[in-house]
Amino acid sequence: MKIIMLGAPGAGKGTQAKKIADKFNIPHISTGDIFRANLKEGTELGLKAKEYMDKGELVPDGLTCDLVMDRIAKDDAKNGFVLDGFPRTIPQAEALTEALKKIGQAMDIAINVDVPDENIVERMGGRRACVGCGATYHVVTVPPKTEGKCDRCGAELILRDDDKPETVKKRLAVYHEQTQPLIDYYEGQGILKTVDGTLPPESVEEAVFALLK
Ligand code: AP5
Ligand code: MG
Ligand code: ZN
Repeated sequence: MKIIMLGAPGAGKGTQAKKIADKFNIPHISTGDIFRANLKEGTELGLKAKEYMDKGELVPDGLTCDLVMDRIAKDDAKNGFVLDGFPRTIPQAEALTEALKKIGQAMDIAINVDVPDENIVERMGGRRACVGCGATYHVVTVPPKTEGKCDRCGAELILRDDDKPETVKKRLAVYHEQTQPLIDYYEGQGILKTVDGTLPPESVEEAVFALLK
């Protein structure tokens, strides 16, 4: 199964993508997580990505597409994968469609996790992210079992640099301008499904798994 998670920043793409990846035993490919991991290791890619991420802007398509195409060609992605945060622009979506077409494949489903802007800013303030595996928590709605430690891997939980309210507003504006058009793009391909992302995480999960049966 090859799955795309669509949705605004903070809609819950990462939260649901992790569940899907665990259940179907396929890789969770989050471009944001890959950029953050690179930054932590101080790679050139990470430093370049940081310039854009800190401002709430998108990393250039060329850099991002190369990275994803390499990742989905790896052995562990043979039986499928779940993309989270990619594609994020029409050129990225077209590059993905073309790359898969070349090997006689196509994405199976694009799940739009729908959450209005009003709910987003308050969600981001309470988010905590795992430095080890990228899992996300929320101090109120999705607390970890032990404060400050990841349930999945035990690593430390941190606040993300781009979760400041001003940066979140910029990310939302960029989302509406550059990423929202992908809803029509995948509707046109006949693979778009929408779930109500304002429901509690377990209810969203149920709706997502119902689509994947
Ligand atoms: P990225 O890391 O992808 O960030 P994003 O898209 O802004 O999305 P988030 O990770 O913030 O939110 P999410 O939808 O995963 O929500 P989560 O599950 O954490 O990208 C960061 C940056 O990298 C970009 O701004 C850009 O610069 C760059 N980048 C990445 N990909 C790129 C690309 N393809 N092209 C160019 N640039 C790229 O949930 C949010 C919070 O809500 C958590 O606290 C969670 O616990 C909580 N929560 C989740 N579900 C619920 C629920 N149902 N009810 C209540 N709370 C919930
Ligand atoms: Mg995420
Ligand atoms: Zn973890």
